[in-house]
Amino acid sequence: MQVISRVAELTELLDTFRRSGRRIGVVPTMGALHEGHLSLVDRAAELTDLVVATIFVNPTQFAPTEDLATYPRTFAEDCTMLEKRRVDIVFCPQDTEIYPPGFSTFVEPPEVARSWEGRSRPTHFRGVATVVLKLLNMTRADVGVFGQKDFQQATVIRRMMFDLNHPCEIVVAPIVREADGLAMSSRNRYLSPEERIKAAGIRRSLLKARRAITTTASITGTEVTKIIRDELLISQIGEIDYAVAVDPDTLEPQTKIQLPVVLLVAARVGSTRLIDNEWIKADA
Ligand code: PAF
Repeated sequence: MQVISRVAELTELLDTFRRSGRRIGVVPTMGALHEGHLSLVDRAAELTDLVVATIFVNPTQFAPTEDLATYPRTFAEDCTMLEKRRVDIVFCPQDTEIYPPGFSTFVEPPEVARSWEGRSRPTHFRGVATVVLKLLNMTRADVGVFGQKDFQQATVIRRMMFDLNHPCEIVVAPIVREADGLAMSSRNRYLSPEERIKAAGIRRSLLKARRAITTTASITGTEVTKIIRDELLISQIGEIDYAVAVDPDTLEPQTKIQLPVVLLVAARVGSTRLIDNEWIKADA
């Protein structure tokens, strides 16, 4: 596994590799890795011949009030974890390598970035879309693998790629969960033991809503929202940002539930904001 921090070195190495006709997969991350990230790396390894994992805490996707300064940085542990999987290159640029002096071009994210996370974090997807496009351009990867955990992010990226005719294929890999169902996230480490127990209620709320949808002939979005909210309140999760049933492509709320549907939840447990989702496909 090679660790590279310069764009020029990365592109030169990957150009040589690409000329031999082999396929490149990229897994963009912000580090603080867990099994969820490693599952993305494993998926990239199944689909391509060379896997690049990027580790870059992207400043442009954090609002000034958010946790950029304290975001967990665990580079040595990340490399140890990646070394045990089939990762060929770790790309870990400095901020100035991605945003050199004078940098001023940003991606205007698609419509699907406006709602949900976009409402709570208005500049977030502009930063995500910009850095993802840059990383895909730098690597010229054939496949980019992203986690379903950040459902709206994956939707924004898929839409951006389509709108901009970008040739890289975007693969969305399933959520990896802790034993109690909590979706793995780098931010879970902020939770105290008591908060950790409460946080598991998010998964319960989604499963309860899934059961209601798959066993009730006709159910409304409002009813689904109520099921999720009630279960969150039982788990003592009071600060709910949104709990909604949406169309998986447009992220528009569904008034009458029709499969496929995605249930999106964002809630604060203590001071930690957590997101999760449940994708109920047409054949559920
Ligand atoms: O999901 C993340 O970790 C980040 O948003 C990403 C895709 C690596 C862009 O910085």
